[in-house]
Order: sequence, then C-alpha cells, then structure tokens
Amino acid sequence: MNRIFSGVQPTGNLHLGNYLGAIRNWVQLQPDYACIFCIVDLHALTLPQDPKALAQATREVTAAYIASGIDPEKSIIFNQSMVTGHAELSWLLSCQTPLGWLNRMTQFKEKAGKHRENAGLGLYAYPVLMAADILLYKATHVPVGEDQKQHLELARDIAGAFNRNFGVELFPLPEPQILGHATRVMSLRDGTKKMSKSDSSDYSRINLSDDADSIALKVRKAKTDPEPLPETADGLADRPEARNLIGIYAALTDKTVAECCQDWGGKTFSDFKAALSEIAVAKLAPIHDEMARLMDDQSHLDAILKHGADRAHDIAGQTMHAVKEIMGLVAV
Ligand code: TRP
Repeated sequence: MNRIFSGVQPTGNLHLGNYLGAIRNWVQLQPDYACIFCIVDLHALTLPQDPKALAQATREVTAAYIASGIDPEKSIIFNQSMVTGHAELSWLLSCQTPLGWLNRMTQFKEKAGKHRENAGLGLYAYPVLMAADILLYKATHVPVGEDQKQHLELARDIAGAFNRNFGVELFPLPEPQILGHATRVMSLRDGTKKMSKSDSSDYSRINLSDDADSIALKVRKAKTDPEPLPETADGLADRPEARNLIGIYAALTDKTVAECCQDWGGKTFSDFKAALSEIAVAKLAPIHDEMARLMDDQSHLDAILKHGADRAHDIAGQTMHAVKEIMGLVAV
C-alpha cells in the first residue's frame, strides 16, 4: 500500500484553512493509504516558541486531528520529536544537500526577511528536516498546500541525490498531492491574503477552537463587496471576498463553486452569510466540542501520541538501519 506522510506545525490556533485545506482531506485518504500524520514540533522550533504554549499546541493539534476524524488506530499520529530518526536523518541528508538548492527556497527568504544574517540555521535547514520526515517513512504521497510545493520538490531532489550518490534505490520520490476545492482559504478581512494564524485580527479567521457564537459573528462581520452574488464561477474573477466565501461554502457543503453560484447567483450577501454561518456552525461546532472533550483528558491524548510514536519508530528504525549501512556508519 502506498504511504502518506503529512504534518502540521503546533504553532498557535488551528483554523478553517488548516481544516479545509489539509486535515479534512487527510480523513478521506485513510481507507486507501497507510497514513502517518505528524505534529511537527521540531519544525516549530525554527522560530522562537514559548515552551508551555508549544506543549499545549502540540496536544491541541493532536486533538484536532482526532476530532476531525483521523483514526489513531488506523493512522499513525505522533509528535515529531518523539521519534529521534527525524533529527538524525536530517543531519545525514544535509550532508547530501548543496547550499545552492537551499538558497532557492522562497519561504526562507520571506520568513528571514531583511535581516537574513540574524535568521537561525534551523530556519534555513527546515526543508531538509521536512525531507527527512518524508523519507524516513519512504512516503510515496505527501498532501500539502501550494506553499509547500517547493519544499516537496527539494525532498524529491534530495531523495534522488541520495540514491544516485550511493548507487541505491532506497528512497521513492515522493509525489505532492494538492487536494480539495478549498485548498486556499483566504482571510475573512481581506480576500487576497491567506487565512493565517499569525494575522493580528482574530476576525480574519475561524479557529477550530471557536464556539458557535464566535463562528456566526465572524461570518457576519466578514468583508464583502456591494454586488449581489454572481450566477457563474467566472463572475468571481475580480471579487476576492465573494470568491473566498463561496469557496468556503462549497467546501463545507461538498459542492462545486459552479453549483454554489447557480444556487446563490443574484442573492444578497446577507442571505448567503446566514446560510454560510449555519453550515459552518453545523460542521465545525462538533469538532470544537470534541476537541474540548479530548483536551480535558491529557493522559489519554499523551497515550495516543506514545502509541503513534512507537509505531512510527518501528518503521523509522528500519530506514535508519538501511541508511547507516549504505553510508558506512558502523552500528554494532
Ligand atoms: N512544512 C510544513 C508546513 O509548514 C509542515 C511539514 C513538516 C510537513 N514536515 C512535513 C508537511 C512533511 C508535509 C510533509 O506546513
């Protein structure tokens, strides 16, 4: 069976974009793939984190995975730092990665900003750690958002370089999987910006931790334009806010954007928002409630992470064994 690996960083609140763009799609992959869903806490360390908040967010993402429908018995759920192979393989792969490849990474340039000299080595090496995550399990498919495509290309290049340099066929080249209608959920305050946990306005996003009242309020306050909704998807072209809200509605109702435009074309935003709010509450409030229930029992969540880490470690151990032998690292 083909293997999936993907991960979310435990930094701040999970929001509708993480849910519709990632986690919800993962749920549907479980019957067809052997799935590993990681909480990538080592990646979170590439920027400063408050230790208490990091631990809390790690458990929150775990709860969100399970509340969204990822089955911890079928799929493997664990946090990255519990399996030492990630950091270990990352070092070995970094010795196969030319600087020129890393210098092309646009996310590093964005995150490092103007003061590149002050950026951490970890932030720079982040894509190599991501390659290690994937290759440690010889994952064949990696569901990611558009923003991670370049990192996945790099993972393929690193896998190819390793195989070539040592004359082996150890690592399959992982395929990116860009899934779902609403892979890009935009800010509710500005339809041209991605919905983000780092946006200073909480009204810009719907958090999975929001209760029904806040979801309804945020939908009501979402930015719109003065026109009625268009009859066809083409009519959304220069209307980022309308496109975003219709896109969210389409994803939540499992319809296409074209179908939603047929249903809502000519109607006002206020009618549409009432329906959007209703479906958002209906879909998200149960997840919110289940997350809260899971967060109340930390030892149960920790047991799930431990179980997942044990299973992940078994697979990772086999890969590390093979890698060390290939590279000439004596393991007695
Ligand atoms: N870099 C990804 C992000 O920020 C998270 C991630 C880390 C990941 N390792 C991964 C995603 C491996 C897919 C596969 O969204």
